[in-house]
Amino acid sequence: MTGRALAIGLDVGTSAVKAVAIDATGTVIAQVSAECSFESPRPGWAETSPDHLWEASKRALCGLCAQDAVRSGSIASLGLTGQMHGLVVLDARGRPIRPAIMWNDQRCASEVRELEESLGLAKILALTGNKVLTGFTAPKWLWLARHEPETVRAAAHVMLPKDYVRFRLTGAMHTDVADASGTLFFDCEHRRWSSAMCDAMGLPSALLPEVFESPSITSRVTAEGARDSGLPEGTPVAAGAGDQAAQAVGTGIVREGDVSCTIGTSGVIFAATAGFRPTPDGSLHAFCHAIPDRWHLMGVTLSAGGSLRWMRDSLCADLVREGASRGCDPYELMFAEAAGAPQGCEGLVFLPYLSGERTPHADPNARGVFAGLSTRSTRAHMIRAVVEGVTCSLRETLDVARSAHARVDRVRLSGGGARSAWWRQLLCDAFRCPTSCPTSTDGAALGAAMLGGVGVGIWPSVDATADTVTEASTLTPSESAPEFDAVADRYARCRQAMTPWFAHSR
Ligand code: XUL
Repeated sequence: MTGRALAIGLDVGTSAVKAVAIDATGTVIAQVSAECSFESPRPGWAETSPDHLWEASKRALCGLCAQDAVRSGSIASLGLTGQMHGLVVLDARGRPIRPAIMWNDQRCASEVRELEESLGLAKILALTGNKVLTGFTAPKWLWLARHEPETVRAAAHVMLPKDYVRFRLTGAMHTDVADASGTLFFDCEHRRWSSAMCDAMGLPSALLPEVFESPSITSRVTAEGARDSGLPEGTPVAAGAGDQAAQAVGTGIVREGDVSCTIGTSGVIFAATAGFRPTPDGSLHAFCHAIPDRWHLMGVTLSAGGSLRWMRDSLCADLVREGASRGCDPYELMFAEAAGAPQGCEGLVFLPYLSGERTPHADPNARGVFAGLSTRSTRAHMIRAVVEGVTCSLRETLDVARSAHARVDRVRLSGGGARSAWWRQLLCDAFRCPTSCPTSTDGAALGAAMLGGVGVGIWPSVDATADTVTEASTLTPSESAPEFDAVADRYARCRQAMTPWFAHSR
């Protein structure tokens, strides 16, 4: 095949699998999305069939490879990314034994407690750099051992969701350091599986895939994988990364000092670090970055954009109707109304813990709170309080990262939350550092494509891919930025006051 070299990225996500093709300038020349879904057979559970993810991946890749822009080029590499923390279990013939238990599944709260009691937080932190959360893979394995011992007995391979797609494409059982970091079976400091954690969890380490640095080419598309996906047989496949690290690569967050804030349903702060710098109490995730010898600190506010959506759906039906009739985004109308309320909302505070919280104050029992309503409070105050509450939660994560010696030179904002110029300035003031927005919105799939491209030499390094990322809307903190400290302080005092109530309210 002739034509310009193309790097393909595949993001095996939660609600869609996305495939993109980029050229050597980092420009996305084609993209295809295929829907996928998950099931919740019981409250708090989230499962999906690995073969369902494979089917969606095939659709996305076949659709991409059929596009003229891709057919006229020459596919040089594939990079994989996807939803992290899931548990896929295969039998000795490589067939899934049961549905994958996903990152957003909450069933293993008692296994988390059990692990904390038996191993102790200090030991888990020393072995992995992280604390145990229900979302992570290891406690899911313990749950299986307790509730489905027959599955554990038949298990010959354990892997992450995107790595099952890799297995179907290439026959290889491989993973990467960034995705492995979120399993809690991984020693993030030394970038290798932790035999001590595997032993403690009764997982024979031979069941785990071989682990590689993210840009390494570790396998090639087989004849069968090529028939299924439309990719050329022999296409080199890079190890890739979990979706957050790949998204960071796609938005140029690669060097110490680079930080991103992505506001979708959840809000993620991601700080690249040159060394391994876990927080002393594991309040942020300390994972390997998709770049050799680099790590990152990460925090997740579970209901960020999700809190705004809740506000829209429960209290702003008129603005939804008005938006539909005027052809504008109801969130813009909400923000315009909120901008009419004073900063600090005359004492009204919102804690955005609608589905519990993950970082920096992990608490599955936490719930959303409006505190300080008065007869002066209007809906504008309430909308503004939601925006300020989400902003305060993200700032707490950023401040914990700063106190763990992560440098914060600038923050790149992306996701739906970054669309509002008003909220962007608020975030910039709250973070007390310059902010900007990357112009491409292809995130994780783009980052995965870049990792594959580095693997085959389209770019000399992951750092070089960051130079292809362009940005707009650069902001600096306004004169009134210091006034946000009082808002953040009131938020922190409200959270502290509510913490015992969360523990005893159910
Ligand atoms: C990362 C995380 C999510 C999932 C799903 O820690 O929980 O990003 O990977 O996208």
